[in-house]
Amino acid sequence: MIENILRLILPEAASSFAPEIDLVYFYIFAISVFFFVLIVGLTGYFCVVYARKDGDPIPPHITHNKYLETVWIVVPTVIVFIMFYWGARGYMDMVTPPSNARQVQVLAKRWDWTFTQTGGAKDSVLHVPVNEPVELVMTSVLDDVIHSLYVPAFRVKLDVVPGRYSKMWFKPTKIGTYDLYCTEFCGDGHSRMKTKVVVQSPEDFKAYLVQASKPSDPTDPEFVKRTVQQCMACHSTDGSVVVGPSFKGVWGKTESLEGGGSVVVDENYVRESLMEPNTKIVKGFKPGMVSYKGVLTEEEILAVIHFIKGLK
Ligand code: CUA
Repeated sequence: MIENILRLILPEAASSFAPEIDLVYFYIFAISVFFFVLIVGLTGYFCVVYARKDGDPIPPHITHNKYLETVWIVVPTVIVFIMFYWGARGYMDMVTPPSNARQVQVLAKRWDWTFTQTGGAKDSVLHVPVNEPVELVMTSVLDDVIHSLYVPAFRVKLDVVPGRYSKMWFKPTKIGTYDLYCTEFCGDGHSRMKTKVVVQSPEDFKAYLVQASKPSDPTDPEFVKRTVQQCMACHSTDGSVVVGPSFKGVWGKTESLEGGGSVVVDENYVRESLMEPNTKIVKGFKPGMVSYKGVLTEEEILAVIHFIKGLK
């Protein structure tokens, strides 16, 4: 019964943590509602029945009641201890990854995610096999800001900090595609810093790993798509301005620059824009892009060039 109520008000539950976290949540919520109704109800009731009556009678002088006081000390203490014990147990479970967990490296930057699987497969979407513990080893690019990785369906959330690794784990229990958000306000693109977690059967996941760790061909459509997905938080392909200039029709164009001068959009300018994004800013835009130096491989840089070329 409680399960069904929870399904109505909470997001889908797709990890091994979810059922217990939801129960703790429900326990705290139910107690809060119960006491809210009890206290507000009694306050209202007393206002009516004990309102000052005609004749201004003097009320009896009551100092204390041992039994009543014992009850309102013991009962809340027990309730709060259950909250603490239940919460602490769940927390300990969540911060202790099993030793057989599959590790995935997570790199956050303004404003996208990169997930690197053991074996080298890199993707902006997180793929994980069902019913297998997964540990995320997360960091943010050094000159970047704090982000936070959140998967509501798994009930996990943890800050991702530049210059250090934060670790979290989960065991997905349901095949499907779930939302993954950044939940730390990190600038203009924060609301677009979201992607998906794809939970797959072990067979599908294996196939994905093989496919995704294929030697990277900068003209392979799948590889190009995976690579440029990270650009889409800030650059459009339809001419509209999101944060930075649109990619549409820029190839071969001569752009005027902030501070004077101009540049032709060619292989060298695209490469420079990825490595040293704030050296040559197109007129009308502000510096703000983070360098992809050390983030993109040579093949990935070529894939971005190939993509922009193709939008001519
Ligand atoms: Cu990254 Cu908000």
